[in-house]
Amino acid sequence: MTDEQTRDETAGAGRRPSDPTTLKRLYGRQKGFKLRDRQQRLLDELLPRVAVPLPPSGRALDPAALFGAPTADLWLEIGFGKGEHMATLAARHPDIGFIGCEPFLTGVVGALGHIEDQRLGNIRLHMGDALAVLAALPDASLGRVFLLHPDPWPKARHAKRRFVNPGPLDLIAAKLRPGGEFRVATDHPTYMAWTVMQMDHRRDFDWLAEQPDDWRVRPDDWPATRYGQWAESEGRPIWYFRYRRA
Ligand SMILES: C[S@@+](CC[C@H](N)C(=O)[O-])C[C@H]1O[C@@H](n2cnc3c(N)ncnc32)[C@H](O)[C@@H]1O
Repeated sequence: MTDEQTRDETAGAGRRPSDPTTLKRLYGRQKGFKLRDRQQRLLDELLPRVAVPLPPSGRALDPAALFGAPTADLWLEIGFGKGEHMATLAARHPDIGFIGCEPFLTGVVGALGHIEDQRLGNIRLHMGDALAVLAALPDASLGRVFLLHPDPWPKARHAKRRFVNPGPLDLIAAKLRPGGEFRVATDHPTYMAWTVMQMDHRRDFDWLAEQPDDWRVRPDDWPATRYGQWAESEGRPIWYFRYRRA
């Protein structure tokens, strides 16, 4: 399979738009560089201990069984990159369970490094498409969903590949409990305008911004990500969207 090839071939015709099996959101590179000894050990030994055990199709994942101890809430990050945002939050909130989804091998190894270095017992990982985990979770089981600097797919003909689209948004809406929060960050002007447009007409999410700084300034409880830091270092604006599940 080449770098540019679509990796999720599960799209089917004639199904309802929110059916996760009709959604394709996994495009691009999966493998990174050759692994060093520690990275290989993390993959061989730690990943099996923290991997999300996806149930057979049609069965629901039991969030309570994921973690060793009861958790106060469950938060999920889509495309965590190398995991710095998730790890920072997991260290700040040891009572909350986190699920991180990322298909990129180098990113998963990065997150495993954070888990080991900081002894984070409250993170579980899925190396693959976030849609598979979202689809398997019970409805209203998530308190927060994070989508930070998603691949922008700036060409109009690739707009359907963006995660912010009706199918994935329907799924996120179903899995967030009422009052739960969907957080999106982007440094791409096209994705910013697209997000506003897609979210504006949805009745199931309320945009929490009341003044311009609410979406132009990173909130204190929102750790920076690698892509966010790149944008900041280059002086590019970042937009921070917080939506509450109605
Ligand atoms: C531009 S990077 C941003 C990474 C990180 N969130 C950050 O802000 O530094 C987008 C990430 O989303 C991941 N990704 C793309 N499609 C995905 C999907 N369907 N499920 C989970 N992750 C996905 C990519 O592998 C990539 O690591």
